[in-house]
Amino acid sequence: MGRKTILFLIIGVLWGYYIYIPLPDNIEEPWKVMQTNTPVNIITNVALFAELLGISHFIDTLHFLMSFQDVPPTSDENVTVLETTFNKVPVRVYVPKRKAEMLRRGLFYIHGGGWCLGDAAFFNYDFMSRRTADRLDAVVVSTNYRLAPKYHFPNQFEDVYNALKWFLHQDVLEIYGVDPERVGVSGDSAGGNLAAAVAQQLTEDPDVKIKLKIQSLIYPALQTLDMDLPSYRELPQFPMLTKQFMVRFWSEYFTTDRSLEKAMLLNQHVPVEAKHLFKFVNWSSLLPEKFKKRHSYNSPTHGNSDLAKKYPGFLDVRAAPLLADDNKLSGLPRSYVITCQYDVLRDDGVMYVTRLRNHGFKIFLQHYESMCHWDLSGSGYPTYQTYQNWLHTRT
Ligand SMILES: *[C@@H]1O[C@H](CO)[C@@H](O)[C@H](O)[C@H]1NC(C)=O
Ligand SMILES: *[C@@H]1O[C@H](CO)[C@@H](O)[C@H](O)[C@H]1NC(C)=O
Repeated sequence: MGRKTILFLIIGVLWGYYIYIPLPDNIEEPWKVMQTNTPVNIITNVALFAELLGISHFIDTLHFLMSFQDVPPTSDENVTVLETTFNKVPVRVYVPKRKAEMLRRGLFYIHGGGWCLGDAAFFNYDFMSRRTADRLDAVVVSTNYRLAPKYHFPNQFEDVYNALKWFLHQDVLEIYGVDPERVGVSGDSAGGNLAAAVAQQLTEDPDVKIKLKIQSLIYPALQTLDMDLPSYRELPQFPMLTKQFMVRFWSEYFTTDRSLEKAMLLNQHVPVEAKHLFKFVNWSSLLPEKFKKRHSYNSPTHGNSDLAKKYPGFLDVRAAPLLADDNKLSGLPRSYVITCQYDVLRDDGVMYVTRLRNHGFKIFLQHYESMCHWDLSGSGYPTYQTYQNWLHTRT
């Protein structure tokens, strides 16, 4: 064998080693997951390395490497795409070109990316918004918001809330030809977190007269208190979103101080003064048997109260919608929650469904047995169905 052949063999083996990850049998398209995960792995490793060398913040490197997915706001034959601001917050609006027979549905969409990454301009989000607008004859508003590490909670929440409030004005809806009785909010991952949070906040806002018809939460992150749920225990290293990165994203939402992240990884960040909140995230009582399996519940151990004093955001209901009391839940619109089996955030979504059901809500949980985190972000397929079913009638 020549030297070149040997070199190619080595590269081939290394690539195979790098890309190959053992996955459960029922994952629908294992090679697709591996192929998406490989670049994710490579860029996160580059970002971790750059941080280790003190060259740049982990998130800044990721942000830079991911910005190449942006596409311009280009209208096509069916949809007019424009960029504007709602209450100073930049949004992309997708309006169907065909003549409207009546007022249209409106969908306010919030992208994911751990409160640190992502953009309405990402190819997959742009694609999804365009498709949703076209297929459902809906006006889609895809919002941006300020991101960590430059901005922390509550900036992300406030940007999204301000933009949504702007959209929910009668005269703004009129400009876009949207039916005030058929407006929904949706988002995936951190966007699902923000969607749940703004939907709760709206229920208590006397300024907003127009109510949401639905909320549709796609594998939302909903709580920071217990980082030892069965889904975190079972899937700490699962491709696309490991526990390590989820905890990093959570802590970056509140601060760049890494001591919060360290405490969260040990599940020792909640002070004893906040122990009354554990009942809202108690998976032992909120998860169905199917998800509890044989795991035994350990109440999280308490940390000192300094972290919660410095970064009270992680105990704030606007960051962790599972902490809402029953009063706050009672005003929510119809809800649709999507969870995936192979996702550390799975149990957050399932627990929220239990809480809403306990409260007497009819709520639709779509649990995908063979999917993992990020599988649906920007794909559109399951989301159309939701919006179609729930935004089509005027009741
Ligand atoms: C526009 O709509 C037509 C008719 O539904 C469809 O065939 C075409 O593919 C659409 N174009 C785009 C760019 O989506
Ligand atoms: C959690 O729920 C279990 C079972 O319902 C209960 O025994 C336990 O006391 C609860 N713990 C907390 C901290 O709420």
